[in-house]
Amino acid sequence: MSNKPKLLHGRLLEDADAFVEAFTASVAFDKRLYRQDIRGSAAHCRMLGKVGALSGAEVEQILAGLVQVEAEIDSGNFTWRPGLEDVHMNIEHRLIELIGEAGKKLHTARSRNDQVATDLRLYLREEIDALMELKTALLNVLLDLAERHQGTVMPGFTHLQAAQPVTFGHHLLAWFEMLLRDRDRLRDCRRRVNQLPLGAAALAGTTFPIDRHFVAQELGFEGVAANSLDAVSDRDFAVEFVAVAAMTLMHLSRWCEELVLWTSQPFAFIDLPDRFCTGSSIMPQKKNPDVAELVRGKTGRIYGDLTALLTLMKGQPLAYNRDNQEDKAPLFDAIDTLKGCLTAMLGMLPHLQADAEAMRRAAAQGFATATDLADYLVRKGMPFRDAHRAVGKTVAYAVQQRVGLEEIPLPVLRELVGELVDEDVLGALTLEGALAARSHFGGTAPAAVAEAVKAGRKRLAAELSDPCRSA
Ligand code: ARG
Repeated sequence: MSNKPKLLHGRLLEDADAFVEAFTASVAFDKRLYRQDIRGSAAHCRMLGKVGALSGAEVEQILAGLVQVEAEIDSGNFTWRPGLEDVHMNIEHRLIELIGEAGKKLHTARSRNDQVATDLRLYLREEIDALMELKTALLNVLLDLAERHQGTVMPGFTHLQAAQPVTFGHHLLAWFEMLLRDRDRLRDCRRRVNQLPLGAAALAGTTFPIDRHFVAQELGFEGVAANSLDAVSDRDFAVEFVAVAAMTLMHLSRWCEELVLWTSQPFAFIDLPDRFCTGSSIMPQKKNPDVAELVRGKTGRIYGDLTALLTLMKGQPLAYNRDNQEDKAPLFDAIDTLKGCLTAMLGMLPHLQADAEAMRRAAAQGFATATDLADYLVRKGMPFRDAHRAVGKTVAYAVQQRVGLEEIPLPVLRELVGELVDEDVLGALTLEGALAARSHFGGTAPAAVAEAVKAGRKRLAAELSDPCRSA
């Protein structure tokens, strides 16, 4: 006989095969749930005392024991034993070592199935709150940058070809909108995470007169899972979180792709702080945007996590199956990756230096005001399709002559597009004119950007004070 602890030895007469023990153990990765496990156990214990399933003295002993276990783990004086499978059994075993008989009563009216689901939800809820803070900080950085660059001209692109001039502030506010939606999705997901599974026990509830609403209140859950089978078996809350994380990374990855392009010499629009770049082992001149590239690269990991979780769930009959133990690696990975990427962006973006001259030069190339010339002709009475063709002809001429649209002499322009053109056309052909004309809500004009920044600050503040975000 082995001298292994036997919390799990019910009907099993043989010790687990050494391989099976290693194969089934999760403590190496689920020990990160220890605080939540202890918090959940304390609430469960108080509830058992309240309904008379434990005596007052037993409750006190258990709570004191749990405090001690937590202190041991916090200080690194705790021996994690893979033979005890997971974080739950490790903690319970140590509790029993410390306080004896009372410790053996803690698992009354509970199963690891509802316990692990509870721990995971508590853990994810805390992480969501931390991630929301990071997103808020990043949103503020974007607003500050947009404010600073409300008048900075750059080319706006479609097909990565210069299309129409925009302000850099406007571009930054596009990022702001993406991230604000991501933040909103996270908050929405939190409501569904924040439901208490405990009390579902293994799958069918328990014969003890438990008070699940009391436990929910103790642990700050917004609601109690209404079906015991569902409570222990579904991990849709984790899938949803990882989907939100994947979407956020999709956005961050797009930003990073732009940062990589913009720091490259052909663009040279921006400069990133040296401490967020790396050199080359062979080319001494290099300053590589590795951090941005890694954020872009890590996006693939999160998509993998999402696929893993979706696939994990699709074949499971109700209720709990051990498959669910595999939810942790992808969930934790998604949390860590998202946190790392947001932290990277927060480190980098406030120190982004824009080269307004280079941006303006690029905006002046590529006939970015061609649409403005067409719009001008329309205002003078020409149907848009005709104007489109006339301006197309003009651009072809300008390409041939190697001049910008604003450099074509008025008489020549008249020959190309017609007599409608007056001196005032120059206003439409300059970058400033093109920008200022787009001053409607959601437009790129410096004035519209200034308004959007102000509105953005209000929207952020309103979201932060939203009562549906409970503690
Ligand atoms: N470590 C397990 C998990 O993460 C805890 C639940 C075990 N339940 C069971 N019936 N074997 O899912």
